[in-house]
Amino acid sequence: MTQPTIESILKEKRNFPPSAEFAENAIIGSMEKYRELYDAAKADPQGFWAELAEQELHWFQKWDQVLDWQPPHAKWFVNGKINISYNCLDRHLNTWRRNKAAIIWEGEPGDSRTLTYAQLHREVCQMANVYKQLGVKKGDIVGIYMPMIPEAAIAMLACARIGAAHSVIFGGFSSEALRTRLLDAEAKLVVTADGGFRKDKTIPLKPAVDEALRDNGVPSVDNVLVVQRTQEKVHMDAGRDHWWHDLQAGVSANCPAEPMDSEDLLFILYTSGTTGKPKGVVHTTGGYNLYTHITTKWTFDLKETDVYWCTADVGWITGHSYIVYGPLSNGATSLMYEGAPRPSNPGCLWDVVEKYGVSIFYTAPTAIRALIKMGEHHPNARDLSSLRILGTVGEPINPEAWMWYHRVIGGGRCPIVDTWWQTETGGFMLTPLPGAIPTKPGSATLPFPGIMADVVDLEGNPVGENEGGYLVVKHPWPSMMRTVYGDDDRFRRTYWEHIPPKDGQYLYFAGDGARKDEDGYFWVMGRVDDVISVSGHRLGTMEVESALVSHPAVAEAAVVGRPDEVKGEEVVAFVTLEGEYEASDDLSNELKQHVVKEIGAIARPGDIRFTDGMPKTRSGKIMRRLLRNLASGQEVAGDTSTLEDRSVLDKLRSGA
Ligand code: WTA
Repeated sequence: MTQPTIESILKEKRNFPPSAEFAENAIIGSMEKYRELYDAAKADPQGFWAELAEQELHWFQKWDQVLDWQPPHAKWFVNGKINISYNCLDRHLNTWRRNKAAIIWEGEPGDSRTLTYAQLHREVCQMANVYKQLGVKKGDIVGIYMPMIPEAAIAMLACARIGAAHSVIFGGFSSEALRTRLLDAEAKLVVTADGGFRKDKTIPLKPAVDEALRDNGVPSVDNVLVVQRTQEKVHMDAGRDHWWHDLQAGVSANCPAEPMDSEDLLFILYTSGTTGKPKGVVHTTGGYNLYTHITTKWTFDLKETDVYWCTADVGWITGHSYIVYGPLSNGATSLMYEGAPRPSNPGCLWDVVEKYGVSIFYTAPTAIRALIKMGEHHPNARDLSSLRILGTVGEPINPEAWMWYHRVIGGGRCPIVDTWWQTETGGFMLTPLPGAIPTKPGSATLPFPGIMADVVDLEGNPVGENEGGYLVVKHPWPSMMRTVYGDDDRFRRTYWEHIPPKDGQYLYFAGDGARKDEDGYFWVMGRVDDVISVSGHRLGTMEVESALVSHPAVAEAAVVGRPDEVKGEEVVAFVTLEGEYEASDDLSNELKQHVVKEIGAIARPGDIRFTDGMPKTRSGKIMRRLLRNLASGQEVAGDTSTLEDRSVLDKLRSGA
């Protein structure tokens, strides 16, 4: 088991306070200071956020009201006018930061590029002007399907600059997943590249866009803007497809940032849920800008001289908030990396740390576990002395991996910030502030100031110390999701109705199980719904099941997660075939490939188990708990008395 168990975390007593030297130089340098901020925010949340908004950001026009809370709908900084691209770029230009590296990019295979704030500003303005030429207007949605190259960030900032919203679709998603997301958002323009480099291979992206748009697959898309990256030959549709370098050549670099309403749509980002279709999480401008700004600054104790590196892909929320918007709003140097560790280059991350003197390194537990397997001689052979803070996100980190990270990568001196948050929350919710909060391996520690989190039962009553319950947030926060794009009902149902309001207070339901220990530290245990986490990426079991049953051979499918040492969880699918089909290895491979085609490689089942029937309750519900036990090779535990036909279970057990 790689996920921490309740027993293992109850035994976890290690505690790592920041060193005196670290604390002395930190922005928030003591537990007293943290408590002071936390208490001030709790006593007067609106005053707390208003003061920060005024100090930390540029506004074209000040708000009239800090928060308008009509549960479950929040508006922050009502009638304020702001532009996040202005805050990320323009306001740094009249300072010495003008010529500071905004983005350091390390590409594959072996190329690299640095953009100063002035250079990044110029390219963003040019891309924004190209968007305008292509007919994109304020309020339109632009789909972005890109590899990890600076143009991905440029494309996002260019949207924000003119008030178009972006919907970034992870470059590892299939053409079908791309199509459904573009369709749902009615995207006008798609920004993509010919392809990207990934682990010694090229990944074709433009062909996937062609496939998604084939036969008028997404009628709203008028134009496709293509960045040249791999130089592989791609089809260009005259009239629809344009090379970025062609259009950039003739376009002005003057494009003032559009003053946006604080509540104007900034982006949509699709994420998996418990029902079939991924949901478009909606984020707006002002609150998101403030929250990602301040969480980046305090959680990473950001200094002007830091080289900050988050290894996520811009296709996920971590890339949005903590590669692009949070760091750039602070005028930081944000490193973007196109590569990934692989057998042919197991030390590549440490080469990058050494090459650029990375001081803050932020990655995922699944990556750490993979690096542990590759052996510590790789990091040991590099100079990692520039590192001063390490971070982790995406899933619970097992204490052994935490200790390895701390010892081998951090040299025992770097605080680890284990940040718990979600696509929906926009920014960090539970996290250590590294100069203030002593860390415990496996705990995301305490709420960020201004976040009122708790662990409750299904009636909303707080559970006792070290008792398991549901993680909730009690007060709105600036970067909270505003709704599900085009489906406000689903927003209410998913996040606000599982647990009823308690004493008039609405509770945001995160979908995670957690407990609080005797020091009030949170220990996040993982999802309590049918979402599985493969390498830290959320996958709805329903989504994979829908993909499987869209294959003609499949009559019924049930998907569960099985613990995996590196990936956290792996997809296991139980499949019942249509009468005329026979189980075989070939069919198993075909079904795996079918899922890759429908969703993407991250969803590929590790195992397909053919079965004549599913274990169901008398009311016809598949008993996933039993399937989970079977998938992980455990004895079927707990109550099976509601099972309709016990022989199904016996057959599944014997593998028949
Ligand atoms: C999980 C990623 C434990 C959790 C930012 C959450 C974590 C889901 C942590 C959101 C953490 C994220 N400790 N679990 N530090 N961070 N999770 O939307 O289950 O891709 O609900 O956002 O990841 O995943 P998402």
